[in-house]
Amino acid sequence: MNYVSGFLSIVIALFISSTGAEDVVYGQVGGTVTLPKLKWGSEKVTVQWYFGMDQKSLIFRNAQGRETIDPEWKDRLSLSKTDFSLIINKIRLEDFKSFKCELKDFRPTQMTSVTTFRLSRVSVQPVSPLLAGKNLNLNCDVKEIFEGTQRRWLSPQKQDLNKDKRAQIGNNGGLTVMNVTGQDNGEWTCVVTYQGREAYANTPVTVIDLSPAHTQPIYTSVSSLSLLHLPCFFSIPLPLSWSGSQEKSIQGGRWTFTPSPAAGSLTGAVQTLVNLSPGPPLAWVANQKRGLDVSALQRKNLNLSLSKKGVTEGDRGDYTCAVEFQRDDTLKREMRVEVLQVFTSPGPVAFLGQEVNLTCTLGQPLTSDLEVKWIPPHHSSLLPLDSSPHPTLLTIPEATYGNGGRWRCELWRNKTKLTSVEITLKIERVPMDVWLLVTICAAAVIFVLLLILTVILIRRHRQRVMMPRRGKRRFCNCQDPKPKGFYRN
Ligand SMILES: *[C@@H]1O[C@H](CO)[C@@H](O)[C@H](O)[C@H]1NC(C)=O
Ligand SMILES: *[C@@H]1O[C@H](CO)[C@@H](O)[C@H](O)[C@H]1NC(C)=O
Ligand SMILES: *[C@@H]1O[C@H](CO)[C@@H](O)[C@H](O)[C@H]1NC(C)=O
Ligand SMILES: *[C@@H]1O[C@H](CO)[C@@H](O)[C@H](O)[C@H]1NC(C)=O
Repeated sequence: MNYVSGFLSIVIALFISSTGAEDVVYGQVGGTVTLPKLKWGSEKVTVQWYFGMDQKSLIFRNAQGRETIDPEWKDRLSLSKTDFSLIINKIRLEDFKSFKCELKDFRPTQMTSVTTFRLSRVSVQPVSPLLAGKNLNLNCDVKEIFEGTQRRWLSPQKQDLNKDKRAQIGNNGGLTVMNVTGQDNGEWTCVVTYQGREAYANTPVTVIDLSPAHTQPIYTSVSSLSLLHLPCFFSIPLPLSWSGSQEKSIQGGRWTFTPSPAAGSLTGAVQTLVNLSPGPPLAWVANQKRGLDVSALQRKNLNLSLSKKGVTEGDRGDYTCAVEFQRDDTLKREMRVEVLQVFTSPGPVAFLGQEVNLTCTLGQPLTSDLEVKWIPPHHSSLLPLDSSPHPTLLTIPEATYGNGGRWRCELWRNKTKLTSVEITLKIERVPMDVWLLVTICAAAVIFVLLLILTVILIRRHRQRVMMPRRGKRRFCNCQDPKPKGFYRN
């Protein structure tokens, strides 16, 4: 209740010349008002302000400039040095009465001027904190309306609500704003215009919303080092007046994931990544399979952000953070995650002179606002990379050693690098190895052939040597040598 009556006290100072002797000035509890300047020919006057029906003296200034102030009003009143206007600070409910000013000039003859103002109350009824998506209703309640008095509204960004399609302004000055968001959190202003003068009345409005939505996807790349960070937190701390306990007002929540068709997984199948079990204390129940890290919930500033270290193509898709409140109210944030990936064809190792394709992709054709940039390894040359945009499919017709190394593919939108990914291409001289193999094989075959030939030749040679010896032996055997003529019988 304090919140309500204290804050929504608005100041409007608006001078309205009324038909009677009394002028009306608008003011709001807690605000400041300046009772307008009075014209007088001479400065040598005495000024006296009175208050209320009983004409209590508030402040008096004599012709020499000495002031006397009622002690009860001492810290709330001041008199302008240059004119005779009265400034009232921290207006109280009991101040909405008449203020009379008496100016007296004694030279050359006594002249007296009396002006009476009536402080009239303007109020904006309080609004309790509301969730994003709801309608905001404000009323600029002006007690006394005169012909020509106009009211209009300014948003916290000081935009005129007359130009806002979400707003409806009633004849009685009431304002309705449909489907508020976190941007509508802040001071709203009722502007009262009369006779060319403007007076402003401010009132705070609390809109509970999640962190601003991502209009663009979140870009990351395939890498064990990549960090996927999905933000989801309240744009303002939940007000304590919000049903006493913040935790009690939250009934549950979840992070869900719908894989992108490009990820090659089941499409349209919504997976629940983590569940928020209603408190107190609130706690996340995570699906450990996906390696998600849910930031610790803080009691004062609930932070439901999700992060994951190590990104794969399977992380492409739509993520939704949802928090449920009492009475089936839900706040949601959806975000799309795009994952950049690079691969080579036929493989990470290519042969000298072979055709090699490098592909940099999000898993689907790039939209026209996106482009890729290839950063070749050092000394790499002879590639059509001077022209922009670079192709997503880069063909190296005949790989050279210079094409080997670390290739980087960057994704850009309008002079902004969104993400990048790297791959190492290895070029090897495979044809040489083949010739080596062929030579070795040929040598082996020749060696075996030579071996066989040698064996055959040796055998033949042996045969040739053995044949005559056998003949001799036979000859010797046949002709049994008998001693002839040596015996003398
Ligand atoms: C409310 O605003 C949000 C964000 O501006 C928008 O996405 C949603 O469609 C709007 N809802 C309605 C009912 O207009
Ligand atoms: C929420 O938590 C994440 C990760 O723990 C952190 O990076 C981020 O700054 C936090 N945001 C707020 C608003 O506390
Ligand atoms: C490279 O891409 C072109 C065009 O898509 C294709 O014709 C060719 O077969 C690919 N080469 C390799 C080695 O994948
Ligand atoms: C890109 O920049 C141009 C001018 O620099 C701007 O007109 C255009 O809207 C921008 N596009 C995007 C998608 O931000």
